[in-house]
Amino acid sequence: MALAPPLWYLLLLAGVAVVAYFVFASFVYGAGYQPTPRRSVRTMLRLAEVGPGDLVYDLGAGTGAIVFRAARVYRARVLGVEVEPLRFLVLWLRRRLGPASDRIELRWGNLFHLDFHPATVVAAFLWPGAMARLRPKLEAELRPGTRVVSHCHKIEGWTPAVYDEETDVYFYRWPEALAPAVARPPPDLPRGSALDKG
Ligand SMILES: C[S@@+](CC[C@H](N)C(=O)[O-])C[C@H]1O[C@@H](n2cnc3c(N)ncnc32)[C@H](O)[C@@H]1O
Repeated sequence: MALAPPLWYLLLLAGVAVVAYFVFASFVYGAGYQPTPRRSVRTMLRLAEVGPGDLVYDLGAGTGAIVFRAARVYRARVLGVEVEPLRFLVLWLRRRLGPASDRIELRWGNLFHLDFHPATVVAAFLWPGAMARLRPKLEAELRPGTRVVSHCHKIEGWTPAVYDEETDVYFYRWPEALAPAVARPPPDLPRGSALDKG
């Protein structure tokens, strides 16, 4: 049965409202919605050497790009925290309908209220302001040996052990990340070259 034009119009408006809400609602918390690209997820999990012995925290889990790969491909235990209710519903459904649900814990809430002590790996793709707020919490709560990976935005004041330019992924080891970067000569120039003078 064909819908009358006003109903079409209302449905269209409702659709636009839902999409706008989905994308923009969590701006107030310091990050909008943008799934981590698959290649970057792979780099993050590989650099952090995620494995079955790990407990991965995904801070702002979105719809689960990191959560489900870490649990289902790398066989880690994962805790994903997400503040935005629609995305949390998607996470919940994906966990419920897919494999490895026993390795995945989901929390609906604010990541800044979470205790980071149990994590062995922390993953984050948040806006710079949220990353800056995250830093003191990480420094207070991470245990030595914890690996931290971020996509797109670095943790200001920390030194990455690796930065993968291609996938825009920063990899840190805690607490080594606090040490200043070791200056190295550019790889294709011999020591004592023109760059060393002045
Ligand atoms: C850029 S998305 C990254 C999603 C996911 N990590 C991924 O890799 O696909 C950032 C997510 O963080 C969530 N977020 C932002 N601030 C948050 C907060 N304070 N607590 C929990 N989740 C938050 C947003 O709702 C959004 O889904």
